Order: sequence, then structure tokens, then C-alpha cells
Amino acid sequence: MGAEKKWLFTLFSGAFITFLIFLSFISGFSSSYYYAFPPHKAFPSTVHHGPDYPPAFAYYISGGRGDASRLFRLLLAVYHPRNRYLLHISADGADEERLRLGALVKSVPAIRAFGNVDVIGKPDPNTYMGSTNLAAVLRAAAVLLKVDRSWDWFVTLSALDYPLITQDDLSHVFASVRRDLNFIDHTSDLGWKEGQRIQPIVVDPGTYLARRTQIFHATEKRPMPDAFRVFTGSPWVVLSRSFLEFCVFGWDNLPRTLLMYFTNVVLPQEVYFHSVICNSPEFKNTTVNADLRYFVWDDPPKMEPHFLNTTDYDEMVKSGAVFARQFGKDEPVLNMIDRNILMRGRNRATPGAWCTGRKSWLMDPCSQWDDVNVVKPGPQAKMLEESLNKILEDWKSQSNTCT
Ligand SMILES: *[C@@H]1O[C@H](CO)[C@@H](O)[C@H](O)[C@H]1NC(C)=O
Ligand SMILES: *[C@@H]1O[C@H](CO)[C@@H](O)[C@H](O)[C@H]1NC(C)=O
Repeated sequence: MGAEKKWLFTLFSGAFITFLIFLSFISGFSSSYYYAFPPHKAFPSTVHHGPDYPPAFAYYISGGRGDASRLFRLLLAVYHPRNRYLLHISADGADEERLRLGALVKSVPAIRAFGNVDVIGKPDPNTYMGSTNLAAVLRAAAVLLKVDRSWDWFVTLSALDYPLITQDDLSHVFASVRRDLNFIDHTSDLGWKEGQRIQPIVVDPGTYLARRTQIFHATEKRPMPDAFRVFTGSPWVVLSRSFLEFCVFGWDNLPRTLLMYFTNVVLPQEVYFHSVICNSPEFKNTTVNADLRYFVWDDPPKMEPHFLNTTDYDEMVKSGAVFARQFGKDEPVLNMIDRNILMRGRNRATPGAWCTGRKSWLMDPCSQWDDVNVVKPGPQAKMLEESLNKILEDWKSQSNTCT
């Protein structure tokens, strides 16, 4: 009772002080108070992070030679001023492509104003099967941890991915999720992978040869480790800030030891984070067994899921996934997603509650903005909410975590 009263009082006096401040603004500073001119604000509203605000995401988006325009399209599709972005065109692409991507990024007024997108200038090689891929992801994580202190989750995407919901939806739904949770699809049931992915010893020449070459296989196999358990799963992850700090800063030696071990396996991105988290007592119980992506595998499955097209649209949209892969360049179904879900015009960012410009074919609604800390969910948010609730219920029962 007493506590309740005190709370009421704080709220009331808070409102009263706000009223006083408001009075002083309209009497003293009305001419300089910038909310008086919302339509012409070219400077950013302040970005706020923390437990009282919607969560923010750090995106690492990577591609290879010829992917500049796809990376830019994907960036616009997942753009929000409160997030952070790091784009990477791997070493097989030319510097002109990186410069062109940088110029495209700079052409967007909001990105210029909020300064939350970077393009890696000194690229890494990216051998899909080898360890250079994981090295590039860990580097991106280190950069994103360093340049921005306030994001909550790290998301890996490639040029072949596309979102199925807006960032307003994502942030709104994740606002009620514990921010220490990690979304890693995983299993310890290795099946055929034990003999074909873990035991064979491979070397990725991308780590020491300047020119791109195939990975090579040793003739010997090694026994399965018994100092830790190997977990495998989807290479596409959504990781909490605290878990990534554990992996990158390395005060405990487990992430480093496993990194050294997995340097010599095929596709370490399918085992690394999975094995680190499931072998560390302090993070194990934060592992949610889901990757939040939509894929369709061929039967029998190939290395990569099949290319999605307009015939997959309905299933994809109903899935309640956050992202889907993989898509061909300029695939017509991407235009359907832009038009029906993201409400995104060509070469424009996905609109959110932060965009205040008038909507017309002439004008980009996100060329003007107001409070960027407010998110407004659309119809797709429900889909994600339902699928996420199911996933989290499974997690709470802890029946399929790290087993
Ligand atoms: C996981 O376990 C640790 C201690 O072992 C505890 O501090 C933490 O709150 C737990 N997290 C969850 C998500 O249950
Ligand atoms: C879409 O993909 C499926 C499966 O790969 C294929 O059978 C179908 O012909 C494709 N449809 C179009 C319109 O390209």
C-alpha cells in the first residue's frame, strides 16, 4: 500500500515537473524548441537504448564479388536508426565495389544523419567451407562491440537473405524477450556429420595464402573430442551481447580452445557458437533452439536450401520467421515482400514509426523523421509473436536445450 502510494506520488510529481518544463519551453524557448518545426528536421532525434527502450540489433551483412547492389537492398530492407550495421564484401570483390557500396549507403539521408552503417574497407577472404568464414564473423562481432555500446542482439545475414517483417515489428516483439537469450538452432545428434564434417581434418588456405584456393583435406581423420561435446546446427544465429563478449574477449579459455579445434573442420560456422554455448555452464541455459529463419530444403538436401520464388510466398509469410533465404538476385518475390510487407519503395528504407515524411511516389517518407525510439508494430508482428511464443515455451521447458 505504502509503496503504491509512493509510486503514485512520483508519477504525479513527475507529470507536474514535465508540465513546468513544458511551460518554461513555451514561454522561454519557443522559437528554438525544434519540435515546433517537425517537417524540416534534418538532424537526428536522439537515439536511446537500454531496458526502458525497445531492443536494438547489430547486423553483420556479408556478400562476395558482384553483391554490392544486393547488400544495399538488404540494408534498406532491415534499416532502422536505432540499429547498427556492418557490411562486408569479401576479398574476392574489387575495391570499386566497396566504394560503390559506400556511396550508395551515403546517398540515404537518414543513414548519413544517424551514422550507423559501416562498410569494411579491408576485406577478409571468405571460403564458404573453411574457417575464414567464421574468422570474418568474429571480426565483425568485435568491430560491432567496439563501435556501438548499446545494441542487444547480433544478427548474421548474407546477400542471399531477406527479412519477412519490418524492424518495428522485430523490435516490438523482442521488447518482451529476455535480452540475454541466444537463438541458435542446434543438436548434439551429429549423424552423418560426425564422419563427414567433424572427423576429417581440413585446412583453409584462405588463412595464409593471398590468392583464393580450395580448402584441402588431410588423409587422416581424428577421433571425436572427449574434453567437450560437439553441437551442430544452422549457421545463421542471433546472439546476445553478453554471449558475444564472452566469445570475443575470451576471459574464459573455452571459446578460444574451441576456435582452435574448429579451425580444421569443414563448415565451422555450423558448429562453433553451438558448441561454445552448450559447453559453458553460464550461458548454456540461455540457448533457444531456433534460428528464426525460413528455408526450404530440397529432397535429398543439398549444401544450401533451395532458391525461393513467388510460389513460396504464402508459406513463407505465414511461417512467423524473421528472415528467409535464399533468393536469387532481383527475384520477383522480393518485390512482393517489399510491396506487401515492408511497404518499401525502390531504393528507400523500410518505413517505420520514425518516418514522418508524406508518403508519395515523389517523396521518401523516411527522408524526414521524428522520435526514433518509438516503434509501431504492423500486421506481421502477430505472426512472429505467435511463433516466438511457441519457441520460448519450448525453451522454458528446457527439453531441447543443449541435449
Ligand atoms: C542460467 O543459469 C545461471 C546460473 O547457472 C543463472 O544465473 C541465470 O539466471 C540462468 N539464466 C536463465 C535464462 O535461466
Ligand atoms: C519456383 O521454385 C520451384 C522449386 O524450385 C520450381 O519448381 C518452380 O518452377 C519455381 N517457380 C517459378 C515461378 O519460378
